[in-house]
Amino acid sequence: MTIVDTDLMPMRTGEIRIHGEEGFEGMRKAGRLVAECLDMLVPEVKPGVTTAHLDDLIREFVLDNGALSATIGYRGYRHASCISLNHVICHGIPGSRVLKEGDIANVDVTLILDGWHGDHSRMYAAGAPKRKAERLMDLTYDAMMAGIAAVKPGARLGDIGAAIAAIARKNRLSVVDDFCGHGLGRLFHDEPNVVHSAKAGTGPELKPGMFFTVEPMLNLGRKDAAILSDGWTAVTRDRQLSAQYEHSVGVTEDGVEIFTTSPKGWHKPHTVEL
Ligand code: MF3
Ligand code: CO
Ligand code: CO
Repeated sequence: MTIVDTDLMPMRTGEIRIHGEEGFEGMRKAGRLVAECLDMLVPEVKPGVTTAHLDDLIREFVLDNGALSATIGYRGYRHASCISLNHVICHGIPGSRVLKEGDIANVDVTLILDGWHGDHSRMYAAGAPKRKAERLMDLTYDAMMAGIAAVKPGARLGDIGAAIAAIARKNRLSVVDDFCGHGLGRLFHDEPNVVHSAKAGTGPELKPGMFFTVEPMLNLGRKDAAILSDGWTAVTRDRQLSAQYEHSVGVTEDGVEIFTTSPKGWHKPHTVEL
């Protein structure tokens, strides 16, 4: 059970919260820890392991480092990660599924350190991915980074989704529009909703001190999603591959700070040679 200090858990107000230096310091620590967690996982994602085993490693890492899992107990969810394989878009539930050669997996972890949320995901491959899977992962990473590069004071929220959608369009990929990025900080999901396919120049103006995630999901086929009967697992309706990356970021005086950068430089685990 998580004990929640209500003085430190502001209600959602509909406004986009502006954080100060204390918030940046808290988010840096939480973001670094969740990035270290995904670094820890790089040698562990391989053929023969179950997704439940990966989730065990994540839960132990989070607790051993003085943090809490934000997802255990969240709306009845019971795991420290979401692990979304192949045609699963997001919210895949860890379990008895054994990874096999060529599987691709998004691993998404959200932890709480000293009250601040670090929310981060990357794509991994078990063994060698197929060429089209590799291309999808690389382009999804590029799309996320292009979205983040659009973040600066005076820009509009829609500029993020416009940058992501431009990369998808150019490469004939689709952008899932059923799930968004989100504000975060002391709350897991706060204002604003960060839409991943949008028109440049639309939406609220970005201001220093805003914190949110950029977490685009790109598909090889159509954008349409369906939720399985477990109530969580989102899949592509056409069962073609989907990929996602997620960073937690803050708007600074002159641009953007990424809180969840890999200390080892393992931004794209599928490219790491161990
Ligand atoms: N980490 C996901 C996000 O990026 C949310 C997962 S909620 C869960 O917002 F309950 F499915 F874990
Ligand atoms: Co998120
Ligand atoms: Co996440």
